[in-house]
This record gives sequence, structure tokens and C-alpha cells, in this order.
Amino acid sequence: MLRTHTCGELRLDQVGLKVILCGWIQRIRDKGSIIWIDLRDRYGITQLLLEEGETAPKLIHQARTLGREYVVQVHGIVTERVAKNKYIPTGEIELQMQELVVLNAAKTPPFLIESVTDGGEELRMKYRYLDLRRDPLKNNLLLRHQVMQHARAYLAQHQFIEIETPILIKATPEGARDFVVPARIHPGQFYALPQSPQICKQLLMVAGVDRYYQMAKCFRDEDLRADRQPEFTQIDCELSFVTQEDVIGIFEGFIQFLFGQIKNHILAPFPRITYREAIQKYGTDKPDLRFEMSFVELTQWVQGQGVQLLDTAGSVIGICAPGCADYTRKQLDQLRDFVRETQRDKPLFIYVKYHQDGKLTSSVDKFYSPQGLVTWARAMQAHPGDLLLILAGETVATRHALSELRLKLGKNLNLRDSTKIAPVWIVDFPLLAWDKTAQRYQAKHHPFTAPQEEDITLLATQPEAVRGCSYDLVINGLEIGGGSIRIHERSWQEKIFKLLGFSEAEAQQQFGFLMDALEYGAPPHGGIALGLDRLCALLGDEASIRSCIAFPKNNAGRDIMLQAPSPGY
Ligand code: AMO
Repeated sequence: MLRTHTCGELRLDQVGLKVILCGWIQRIRDKGSIIWIDLRDRYGITQLLLEEGETAPKLIHQARTLGREYVVQVHGIVTERVAKNKYIPTGEIELQMQELVVLNAAKTPPFLIESVTDGGEELRMKYRYLDLRRDPLKNNLLLRHQVMQHARAYLAQHQFIEIETPILIKATPEGARDFVVPARIHPGQFYALPQSPQICKQLLMVAGVDRYYQMAKCFRDEDLRADRQPEFTQIDCELSFVTQEDVIGIFEGFIQFLFGQIKNHILAPFPRITYREAIQKYGTDKPDLRFEMSFVELTQWVQGQGVQLLDTAGSVIGICAPGCADYTRKQLDQLRDFVRETQRDKPLFIYVKYHQDGKLTSSVDKFYSPQGLVTWARAMQAHPGDLLLILAGETVATRHALSELRLKLGKNLNLRDSTKIAPVWIVDFPLLAWDKTAQRYQAKHHPFTAPQEEDITLLATQPEAVRGCSYDLVINGLEIGGGSIRIHERSWQEKIFKLLGFSEAEAQQQFGFLMDALEYGAPPHGGIALGLDRLCALLGDEASIRSCIAFPKNNAGRDIMLQAPSPGY
């Protein structure tokens, strides 16, 4: 090997030892009679020392020809530092340099390769291999590796086996568009890249695998956001002979295990709320439960007072912002503008200040008496000093806008503290959702999800009221995973395809192989997929999953380092 030690491992114990290190030149401080060089590799930084009178003049001269990011091999003696640096593990020693070999020169990097850098995001994406040398990104790669190691250990302990499923497949319906690949030897025909290994993992259950998992690459052609990439990784799992309770139990244990191992954070049993309750209380199926600030339905108190705009609103709902009664006009205008910007169907924005002296003033003083406002404050269980924020309008848009406003206030009031972890299972999702544009039902999760047994009679009469056996795991407002118990009988799968508007021939043409398999002794089964990138972003306290992916796409879905996609090849 070209080295005897790494740049992160030398300590006082090794003082006097002759060692060889290899790494990159991070920084050179030349004070004339003394030169310090920071040498970096994946494991840390070691300070190199050259001193007039101690070091050979030829070596000092050679050191002065080095530039940032040169790759070098250095030979030297470990010595105790006079001025110790308690911020790095090797801060008590330095290496008195005796020999230097330049292994490769480097152009001056386009940005500073240090924890705090001067490079903009696009530039750093172009030179991602340089950005990955910096500690924050390097640590994220290490974290991701650890998450995968611990995940594999937990799953293996629970009898899951790791199986790879193909990447060149047929379309899998997960709600996004497919990426397609032309099949050269079958002109005019295409493979689809998997949006998830959903169908393959179900077929593995038919094959008797019993418990499967995979670190699965998934591909979805959809609009990008901070928590979405066109290519991402799922910890994808499937189990036979299980109920919803079993799956939830095993994967709650999985998340507790990961947080324990990686963050030393003990998580209490996760609460569960139904989809309906989540929408009513937080306006979303991904509530951030690090803080409460739940919605209060005010329609009955507000309507019927002759205020037409409010009387015709589908919903009047509010939240109570604790201690915010002294918000200024400007702050209130900012909140109003925020609501208007986030929502196309702009709901009406009303505020009520519950002053410390017990008086109530509002933006609708003209229409509502102080006594009227008291009933609102009571309904919202507000206290003196609180600010009531109320939105009125079309129900779905109003809930959505209030949900965004709740998150914004949570952030402003520092209630979304990243050291807090608030997991929740969302259960009892509707099986189907009516798609207004297509004028037909869509599967809320995917078409292989089983309906809840007690709702089966509603399938013929009130399909939208049927609940599916599906569940999502949400942590701090981020959807970390989702899964369901599957349909394992052909007749049921056929019924669901019919409800989703598939003709018999279409269902057979697209999913005939799955339905055939269900006729050959498919066991009852279910599973879940956890977003590995999102899990790492959460554990690494990163705002975007990009920071936890070695080579991600940018906001426009481009890899600007590889320059993909490209016009031809
Ligand atoms: P679902 O579509 O809910 O379920 O996906 C599971 C989890 O994958 C992650 N995820 C993403 N992460 C990054 N970028 C994306 N574009 C992206 N899309 C999804 C999320 C999500 O919770 N086959 C089913 C699972 C099952 O039923 O077992 C499925 O794929 O964290």
C-alpha cells in the first residue's frame, strides 16, 4: 500500500513513529520560516509541518510548489503539537515532513473544498466529485451507508431475504409516468423502468419467498421537489401470511432500531391517526406532529350572520397561533399574502387578536360584534395573547391553504425543531379517489391494495367510502413510507380493475400475468416501501434528499455533471 496510516487516525500514542500518509492538500499556511499543510483524506485531516532549520531546504522548496487539491504521499515523524486543536481528532499531533511525492497535480478547484464553501449549487453539481470531498456531503454518504447496513441487519434478523428484481420491465402503476427504454432487437417495442418493484415482489410471495426486501432503484417521471427525484431508492419489503398490524409492528420496530443505532434516539410507540382525521385536523395526510395547532371548524359560529362571502364558503376553519396577538399589520399582511400565493382558489383570510387584556379585535370588526368573536375564541380554546387565523372558501383549497399556513407558523415559532422526531402512522385511506378530469376512479395507493373487509358491501353502492388496507408512515411531515395488504384472489383483483375502469381485455393485457399467478396458490400478503433518500435526509437533518444522493439530478431533472439527458448518442 502507498500509505501506512490514514489522515484521521494518528494520536499522541504514535508520537515518534515514522509514517506514510496519502491525501489531498486542503490548505497551505506559509509563514516564511514555518509552513503548515492540512492533508485530507476520507478519514480526516492531519497537519504537516515544515520548519526552516529542521526540514531539508529542498523539501521546503518542493512544498512551495504544491497547490490546493494536489494528491501527495508524505513521509514523516509523528510529533506532539505545541498549539493543540481540540476541534479535530488528530489535533494533538502533527507530522514533521521528511519526504514528499506528488502523486498527481490538480487544477485550482472552482470552489473552496471545505465544510463552508463559496460555490453555488449548480457549480457544485457540475463538479459533484469535488463537492463530495467536502465533509457535509461525505458524511451524508457515510450515513447512507450506515442506514443501509443497519437496515440489512434488522431485516435479515427478521428472516427477510434480499432479492433483486429486474429494471427493464413492463409498466407498474404507481401514479407517475413511466420512463421508457426502446428495445433494439424488437423495433417499435419498449421496456418501462419500474416505478417500484410492486408486482415482482407480489410474485415473489406467490413463489413462496415469504419475506423479501431490496434496496430498489425506482424511476418516476414526475415533477421534482426537495423530497422527490426521478430516480430514487426504496427499502422495499413484502411479507406473506401477515395482517396490517404485523407489517406496522415490524416496520415501527425497524424505524426505532435505525434511530436508536444511528442517532441514539429512543422513539416511543408511534401514534396512529386515520386519513379522515388527518385531513380534518391538519388539512393533509402528511401532518407534521412536532406541534399541535390543529384545525377548528368554525362554520357554525361564523355563518348565518348575513356576511355573504362567508355564508357561501364551503368551509370556515381556523388555527390558533399561541402568543401572536401582538403581530403587526406588516406581519399579518405577510401571512395573508402567503395564503394568496400558495393557493389558486384564494380563500378569505381573517384574523382575530385576543389581546392580553381580554379584548378581541379582528379584520372583520365591521361584521361581527366582540361577543360574536368571543364564541370563536372559545371554540378555538384560545387564551389571551393568542392570534386566531381563519380561512374561508372552497373546502379542499381552504384546508390545503390552512395546512400550509400552519406549517409556516410552526416554522416562524420554532416549533419545527429538527431535534424532535414525530412519527405517525396514517391508516384507513380511502381505497379509491374520484378523478374529475378522467371522470373515473383512481386507486388511492395502487390497484393491488385490498379493501377493508367491513367496507366490502359498499363497493357496489358507494365505492368512494370504501377504506383500503393501506398505511403511510409520516415523520415530521414527510411521507417516509407507504404500503398495504394486497388482494390475493383473482376474482377480487378483477373486480377492482373493473371499478378502475379497465375492460376485461385491458386488465388481461396489462396484468394478466399477475392475475394468472393469483390462481396458483397466492398466499395472503402485504408490504411496505420506505424511501431511503428521505429517511437519510431526515436522519442527516438535510432539507433536500439531493444532499443524500451521490449523483442526484437538479431541479429540472438534469444531471449537469454527466449532461444527461442529451439529444442523442
Ligand atoms: P409509494 O409510491 O408510496 O409506494 O412509495 C414509497 C415511498 O417511496 C418514497 N418515494 C420517493 N422518494 C424520492 N423521490 C420520489 N420521487 C419518490 N416517490 C416515492 C417515499 C414513499 O413513501 N409499491 C408501493 C409500496 C408498497 O405498497 O409496498 C410504493 O411504491 O418515501
